[in-house]
Amino acid sequence: MQKQQGALFMRIAVLLSVLLLLLLQGASAEADADVAAASESNWNDKVKVFTVATEPTDGYNRYYRSARVYDIEVTTLGLGKEWKGGDMQHPGGGFKLNLLRKAISPFKNDPEKIILFTDSYDVLITAPLEEIVEKFKDSGAKVLISAEKYCWPDKSLANAYPEVEGKASRFLNSGAFIGYAPQVYGLLEDPIEDTADDQLYLTKVFLNDAKRSKLGLKLDTQSKLFQNLHGAKNDVKLKVDLESNQGVLQNVDFMTTPAILHGNGLSKVDLNAYANYLAKTFNGVCLLCHENRLELDNTNLPVISLALIAPQPVPFYDRFLEGIRKINYPKKSLHLFIYSNAALHDDDTKSYVEKHGEEYASAKYILSTDELDERQGRQLALDKARLHNSDYMFYVDADALIDDGEVLRELLALNKQFVGPLFTKHHELWSNFWGALSDGGYYARSHDYVDIVKRDLLGIFNVPHVTSIYLVKSSAFDAMSFQHKEFDPDMALCESLRNAGIFMYISNQRYFGHLVNTDNFNSTVTRPDFYTLFSNRYDWTEKYIHPNYSQQLNATYPIPQPCPDVFWFQIVTDAFCDDLVAIMEAHGSWSDGSNSDARLEGGYEAVPTRDIHMKQVGLEPLYLKFLQMFVRPLQERVFTGYFHNPPRSLMNFMVRYRPDEQPSLRPHHDSSTYTINIAMNHAGIDYEGGGCRFLRYNCSVVDTKKGWMLMHPGRLTHYHEGLLVTEGTRYIMISFIDP
Ligand SMILES: *[C@@H]1O[C@H](CO)[C@@H](O)[C@H](O)[C@H]1NC(C)=O
Ligand SMILES: *[C@@H]1O[C@H](CO)[C@@H](O)[C@H](O)[C@H]1NC(C)=O
Ligand SMILES: *[C@@H]1O[C@H](CO)[C@@H](O)[C@H](O)[C@H]1NC(C)=O
Ligand SMILES: *[C@@H]1O[C@H](CO)[C@@H](O)[C@H](O)[C@H]1NC(C)=O
Repeated sequence: MQKQQGALFMRIAVLLSVLLLLLLQGASAEADADVAAASESNWNDKVKVFTVATEPTDGYNRYYRSARVYDIEVTTLGLGKEWKGGDMQHPGGGFKLNLLRKAISPFKNDPEKIILFTDSYDVLITAPLEEIVEKFKDSGAKVLISAEKYCWPDKSLANAYPEVEGKASRFLNSGAFIGYAPQVYGLLEDPIEDTADDQLYLTKVFLNDAKRSKLGLKLDTQSKLFQNLHGAKNDVKLKVDLESNQGVLQNVDFMTTPAILHGNGLSKVDLNAYANYLAKTFNGVCLLCHENRLELDNTNLPVISLALIAPQPVPFYDRFLEGIRKINYPKKSLHLFIYSNAALHDDDTKSYVEKHGEEYASAKYILSTDELDERQGRQLALDKARLHNSDYMFYVDADALIDDGEVLRELLALNKQFVGPLFTKHHELWSNFWGALSDGGYYARSHDYVDIVKRDLLGIFNVPHVTSIYLVKSSAFDAMSFQHKEFDPDMALCESLRNAGIFMYISNQRYFGHLVNTDNFNSTVTRPDFYTLFSNRYDWTEKYIHPNYSQQLNATYPIPQPCPDVFWFQIVTDAFCDDLVAIMEAHGSWSDGSNSDARLEGGYEAVPTRDIHMKQVGLEPLYLKFLQMFVRPLQERVFTGYFHNPPRSLMNFMVRYRPDEQPSLRPHHDSSTYTINIAMNHAGIDYEGGGCRFLRYNCSVVDTKKGWMLMHPGRLTHYHEGLLVTEGTRYIMISFIDP
């Protein structure tokens, strides 16, 4: 997914790095806002700005905000009314023009008054009125209408348009226009049905030569004021304005900086991406992040449906559930729903609900035996949320491990219809969002993807696709759908939200957790998590390496020495021991304890034990890595001056001692430079007797501790024996290092 996209990508990446650098460098340019304020009322008097919106969608709110940050007063027509002009996706329609005609009629005889009309759901204003009017006046038109590259809806009219040069936009787009009140009124003079096409209507007026010259109509073919983005991807570039340290969108064909941007047609996702940096959302820091935040009232918290989704086996499901426990939110305000479609996770799922279910407002689980597919599982979670009248749904997939329990409150505070925290695989560019879409609706890398993932840019970003962990407000529930004939449920959901005009935000302001890597996860082996050191180093270490491991690397930390030159370390967790013993016992082919051993090169073992080699359970490479990562640094602490990296070890094996099998081992040297011996279970609990005696010093270690490792020289000085186990079973894990 993170494949490089060749030269184009590199070019954009370079550009963006420059952008980033500038954003970071610039002092917070509180541009001369106060000076501007003096004349703003004046401008709002001269120019009347109208838009049409029947619902305050995310797009509308973004539009309205962009007007506000430039002190532009907008009159919204139709808010709360039933839309009568086609469907929501095409807020064109005669309805719009009819509303506008009525609204401007008081000004129709005022030649001084300027009327600016724009759509709202997919429009962004990026400049103050003063600049907008200047651009309008420079055009020499009485009414300046935005232009695009496609002739629509009646292609047959294309040739009737005046010719344009080069890359100019030839055709009218009805999403935005500006003009003097009498001429704008004249443009709308003819009646139009509410449901008729407004663009066709305006096109016909424009193509009427007499009307065009009488009303002084012009198209903004060079995007001096208006930029329609459909089909214009290569015409525009995001840049930083050095004075304000803010993003601007430049039309690179004509070197213009259009002030009103329209995500017409299929370009809504493009507008969303640009808008992350435009209209004072960003000036080196995220300005948007602090706006419109929700203050949580702890006495009256929103009710949330927490949906945990495990469509397939994942490593570290236990750690996933621990992450869920960390969520700092009253359980009584959470309805828990767990969907497991993996037999591997059924038991843990059941026992989690049995153990903690009572604490939640309600708790319900679906297991793999219920045979619900992922779409049904996710849908059922949504149905339950509706049933519980939840204010929000918090979806967390089983590959999303929460490290910071504040995640839910922080997402709530952002006050969005849909927002997820950035989660990435550790030290990888793989994340839970897409910055852009390919034509087919699949993944495409965006110019800022790497900066967001690496958290070089911090903020909240409107993106086309978010998975794994996200919070959805109830106002978006009706738009959510997991059904699709081609897309997987995640893609289906994101598409349904895009189609409904619901913005999906990703927030990377804080680190809240990470994704586990499910690649090559073989869930059919015994204790599959144990096998994932290479694919999930972070979680493997957290689960299997002793929490006190690192402090032993500090030269001031005293390492216990129960016998001369025998060192004792805390190295692995109980989970390590339990999983490894389970793996060995499941394999079950313990050697017979005789001198003949086909596993060895010579076929002969002088001091045989009952054992299983790491090779036999497919863990040899993993164990060698473990020796290198965790054993070697400890060795370097205690046997100063000996450096062998990586350590070599031909024999890594688990030994089983028990009274009815092999209870002890006669004195011997090891063929190693040094030997490690990790206790896999508890002396005095799991077995009686046992231990290791070093004959030269007449010194024994008998109270061995589970997860602790003995390290001693192999030859000459440390002749040793395995002491008698009198009851139970003792397991130890042995390596002969640097033979
Ligand atoms: C998964 O493990 C099983 C049991 O060891 C093995 O037979 C199978 O080949 C493995 N599958 C993969 C894809 O490695
Ligand atoms: C880690 O070491 C401290 C003493 O330094 C000890 O109190 C604690 O129990 C150890 N942790 C574990 C998990 O053994
Ligand atoms: C090592 O331990 C000492 C004493 O506990 C402590 O002061 C020092 O900061 C530690 N050094 C490192 C690098 O952690
Ligand atoms: C070895 O140590 C044990 C007890 O620790 C003691 O009883 C015995 O006498 C010692 N043997 C020798 C040869 O010193």
